[in-house]
Amino acid sequence: MAVLALAACADNERKGSPLEPADPRLNASLLQASEAAKQSDKPNVVENHFVKSALRCSECHEGAYEGWRKSAHARASASPSYKAMRAHAGGAQSAGCDRCHSPFAGRIPARNLALREGVNCDGCHMVARVAPTDDGHISLTHELADNVKYSTLEEAKDHYFHRVRYSDAHGESELCGGCHQYRRTLPNGETLPVYTEYQEWEAGPWGEIGLPCQTCHMQEYTGEAAVGEGERSSLKDHAFLEEGGELRSTVLEAGLRAERDGQSVHLRGTLTNKGAGHYIPTGMPARRIILRAYTVSEQGKAGPEASIAFGRVLVDAQGNEAPFYRAVRVDRDTRLAPKQQRNIDLRVKPVEGAKHLQVEVAWVSFSAPVAKAIGLTEVKTEQLYQQRLPIGDGKRSH
Ligand code: HEC
Ligand code: HEC
Ligand code: HEC
Ligand code: HEC
Ligand code: HEC
Repeated sequence: MAVLALAACADNERKGSPLEPADPRLNASLLQASEAAKQSDKPNVVENHFVKSALRCSECHEGAYEGWRKSAHARASASPSYKAMRAHAGGAQSAGCDRCHSPFAGRIPARNLALREGVNCDGCHMVARVAPTDDGHISLTHELADNVKYSTLEEAKDHYFHRVRYSDAHGESELCGGCHQYRRTLPNGETLPVYTEYQEWEAGPWGEIGLPCQTCHMQEYTGEAAVGEGERSSLKDHAFLEEGGELRSTVLEAGLRAERDGQSVHLRGTLTNKGAGHYIPTGMPARRIILRAYTVSEQGKAGPEASIAFGRVLVDAQGNEAPFYRAVRVDRDTRLAPKQQRNIDLRVKPVEGAKHLQVEVAWVSFSAPVAKAIGLTEVKTEQLYQQRLPIGDGKRSH
């Protein structure tokens, strides 16, 4: 026990040391976290806790750290969009964000570096219990006063820095469901679905065969779980959905064709959610997947664009699209369910001498109304699919 306490002290001495994150994405919201800690009146603060910065873990777990630092988990309390939305949500609403975006806020002293790291290593690996709640959520219990890290390694041993314990839950979707499932209770007692990845997975074909989130989001590789411990063959990549990563590019399957049809070019065929364990887009309701099509002439001149947006639109009492904490109902949901094949039927006005139809499908982080509401000037896009289709005369099938 003395050794463990020493380890904790050593950690405290490193505050503000050269270990300050070099990655600007990690340069986060200590201020915000400390505000949250003040507001909470500190009833939950555990003084003798074992929560550590991810930088400590990186000393031995290089692989996990390198993946994690690229993932959105590492930016969960620091990204510009999160800060903008949190500020817009304001007061009482914003305190509720911490549970998932900064799970130790208000529970450890505000000076701790871990509070600037969003969902850091301990945010998942100090979860000692995963249990369903009466209101249909999943609660995660972090055991902060025990120096135990939970996961699924076979035959890992306790050592001077931390103890280990095997946890089935870490290999299952329920762990993720602790944060990736959220329904907001409205003043009238009704509930509004917000984050729905877990319930969509559970009710869908992937949940049915018991293929957990980890299978797709944490690809296996061979390496050392900790420096000097020898190779293991089933380590898990922690990048989850690295920006521009390969996972997104595998999600869609398209069978599309373009045909001349009177005054327009007709795009027809199907789009299938082949590779996601949940609807696409999923997660934050403001996400969109947008299909855009425009003709291109032999000389490379582009014609006007036609588009279709897929998404779940939450609206406020006046019927205007709103961020989830202002919304009262789901106005429409045009997302693609897992494995669902959707018919596409879109007419595009052709440019003179149109030869090809350019089709692009992209994921967009925020719909225009929500981006505007929270004052976000830059939205992120990721290409999911693109194809230049020859324009047929309507007689051929391809
Ligand atoms: C001094 C080196 C060292 C540091 C620092 C360290 N670990 Fe470990 N950790 C290990 C070793 C060694 C193992 C066992 C590896 C093996 O058996 O292949 C391990 C195993 C683990 C496991 C697997 C547990 C299981 O039962 O499946 C997790 C999770 C873990 N560490 C998380 C962390 C986190 C989080 C941090 C930072 C707070 C951290 N470690 C810091 C050395 C370290
Ligand atoms: C969002 C949750 C989450 C975060 C954040 C996270 N991990 Fe993990 N980690 C997991 C899960 C889940 C597994 C086991 C996956 C499985 O068995 O399917 C795992 C596995 C591990 C293991 C076992 C060996 C391996 O690589 O598979 C180690 C060690 C580990 N994590 C360390 C870390 C460290 C260090 C960090 C921070 C830099 C970190 N984890 C951040 C969820 C997380
Ligand atoms: C403690 C809460 C928490 C847990 C547990 C958790 N997540 Fe997350 N996850 C988040 C938050 C918050 C974000 C959004 C971060 C942001 O973009 O600001 C996120 C983002 C993601 C993303 C988007 C990643 C990217 O880089 O764009 C994926 C994929 C994901 N999580 C998968 C998982 C999986 C799989 C598990 C279970 C192994 C898991 N998460 C466990 C809170 C959590
Ligand atoms: C069959 C593979 C598969 C399974 C299983 C799976 N996912 Fe995904 N997930 C994907 C793919 C592919 C994407 C990218 C989709 C896109 O770009 O729209 C994705 C995207 C995400 C995102 C990013 C949402 C966003 O804003 O674009 C989150 C968060 C996420 N998954 C969480 C989960 C959780 C939590 C589970 C388990 C309950 C899970 N996923 C199960 C394949 C899977
Ligand atoms: C129950 C857990 C939970 C709560 C509570 C929660 N979030 Fe999230 N948040 C998530 C998860 C999981 C994601 C990842 C989903 C995705 O990538 O689409 C996410 C993603 C986001 C994103 C997208 C980040 C980006 O860069 O694209 C923003 C912004 C955000 N949340 C803001 C908030 C705000 C503000 C609050 C409080 C008013 C809040 N969240 C409350 C779990 C939660």
